[in-house]
Amino acid sequence: MPLYLDPEELRIFRDLNQAPGGFIDLVGAMAFRAAGTAQRLGVFDALAAGARTPAELATKLDVAEGPLTVLLDALAGFGYVLCDDDGYAPGPAADPWLANGPRDWFAPTLALWHELIGELWTGLEEAVRTGRPPEPYYAWLERRPGTLRTFQGMLAGMARGLAPAVVAAVPGPYGKLLDVGGGHAIYSAAFCEAAPGTTATVVDLPGALDEGRARVEEAGLAGRITLVPGDLTVPADSAALDSAYDTVLLFNVVHGLDPDGAAGLVARAARALRPGGRLLVLEPYSDPPAGTQGHTAAFLGGFSLNLAATQGGRLYTFAEVAGWAEAAGLGGIERLPLDAPGSDELLVARQETV
Ligand SMILES: C[S@@+](CC[C@H](N)C(=O)[O-])C[C@H]1O[C@@H](n2cnc3c(N)ncnc32)[C@H](O)[C@@H]1O
Repeated sequence: MPLYLDPEELRIFRDLNQAPGGFIDLVGAMAFRAAGTAQRLGVFDALAAGARTPAELATKLDVAEGPLTVLLDALAGFGYVLCDDDGYAPGPAADPWLANGPRDWFAPTLALWHELIGELWTGLEEAVRTGRPPEPYYAWLERRPGTLRTFQGMLAGMARGLAPAVVAAVPGPYGKLLDVGGGHAIYSAAFCEAAPGTTATVVDLPGALDEGRARVEEAGLAGRITLVPGDLTVPADSAALDSAYDTVLLFNVVHGLDPDGAAGLVARAARALRPGGRLLVLEPYSDPPAGTQGHTAAFLGGFSLNLAATQGGRLYTFAEVAGWAEAAGLGGIERLPLDAPGSDELLVARQETV
């Protein structure tokens, strides 16, 4: 966290608007890029073993001591490191959030967003001008195995946290389940573990399924979860959607598409349901519930901008997605909040045609 503003500073910047609030954002951007750079250089991993002097760190990381010291001093101002006579040690913004351990979930998030904002957001202006992302996100990812691993690892971490609440919100049985864009397969595994008769098919791009393969093996579910590599924009690859399923998951995939694409995917998912089958759409909707905290609401705006800039998608309101489900012939639509932190909610709809 770059700045702890004292009450008088807050009054000047926020309440009285006597100083530009954008200056705080400028410092925030510097802090974010400095922290991401330090992470890539291995600074936080190296400091996890104990305090080090700049000379020791520079030798260990094979970087120039002078600029490293400037980086460390900047990080000290941003709360990522502490400095005393023994050298530099992890600060509260790094420990426990970027150190290896049970509360390190922010590490892949910082790594991914550092690359997204540093590279793909350079096309933001063009994307807003033309309405098209300069380079499609998933093609960019499939060319970068390391970034793809970071992305799927970040999603897997989030899914591990959310899956119990998702499964608890939707009572079984789940029968034959299709997980569209299910990559890491954690949600499919959670549904299989919750109800013994469940079998799942996970369709995703080939690289994304590497994470899923590891998870399925680890969970001992290879006999019940089938991974199908394919690009859903290629008709021949989407044959897995032609079967009749009891449950179809569209989890965090709708927001990656433009409105026509998103409506089309919801319709395609509806056609893949047998009568009585359920469609589950997990999304952070752009109209989050009242009481959503300020930092979450602001993040959702930035996330939607990221989707527009990199994928041609955006966050949708619950009513937009419900409208597409209704147009696809689904009924009994419900909005289910999750008993978990974060902004994801579930839309549940039923195939009522016989
Ligand atoms: C934001 S991730 C969501 C992953 C998972 N469903 C979850 O909720 O954690 C979107 C997923 O859709 C997959 N995807 C994107 N475009 C695709 C395409 N054209 N064909 C198949 N899968 C695609 C991505 O590889 C990725 O795994």
